[in-house]
Amino acid sequence: MADKVTFALAKGRLAEKSVDVLEKCGIDCRRILEPTRKLVMSDASGNFEFIFVKPSDVPIYVEHGVADIGVVGKDTLLEEGRDVYELIDLGFAKCRLCLAGHKETDLSRRKNTLRVATKYVNVAREYFDARGQNAEIIPLHGSIELGPIVGLSDIILDIVESGKTLQENNLSVLEEIVNCSARLIVNKVSLKTKADVIKPLVVKIDGVIKAAE
Ligand code: PRP
Repeated sequence: MADKVTFALAKGRLAEKSVDVLEKCGIDCRRILEPTRKLVMSDASGNFEFIFVKPSDVPIYVEHGVADIGVVGKDTLLEEGRDVYELIDLGFAKCRLCLAGHKETDLSRRKNTLRVATKYVNVAREYFDARGQNAEIIPLHGSIELGPIVGLSDIILDIVESGKTLQENNLSVLEEIVNCSARLIVNKVSLKTKADVIKPLVVKIDGVIKAAE
């Protein structure tokens, strides 16, 4: 094999599920899940390299070509808007990007500017601009559900997976924006320069995902 192919993965469930798929494609890489502080790992053959980064940084590494391939949530892709190929819907890590808040919140009848707490500031901006609705976007980095509870915001825009966090905080989905799941992304140049490795691998991964459906 001429060139190493580098994957950017986010530690946690996305990496675990990604390894499951890659193992089924014949890449011996389970050891990258062993607890370690190492940020760069290899598969057993040494042909594939894995770097571990924050979820929101995965598309950045792939866009810049530092990683050839990445696995990232559609929610992050929408927020980051990076120039990468999104080739496969991997089908795992399913969630919904939603507006949520106290269930009596009436989005349509509001005259005042709506205060929206979120990690997804770009998605939120675009969404409310498209609706022609005034919104103050309040950027947060975690525990978004606190926004409407403590009065920082009227609503939140966030991912809902099981719905447990909303339920336990007496909040409800007010509107669903889009369904999300993990996506395989590829650097645009790598797809050409490393086509001999990446293209057959993409076909294999697609086969594994389809077989699991
Ligand atoms: C995410 C998201 C919600 C929660 C939704 O938070 O921001 O809070 O998961 O999941 P659920 O519908 O299954 O309850 P995360 O766990 O990433 O933590 P954070 O609050 O630090 O962002």
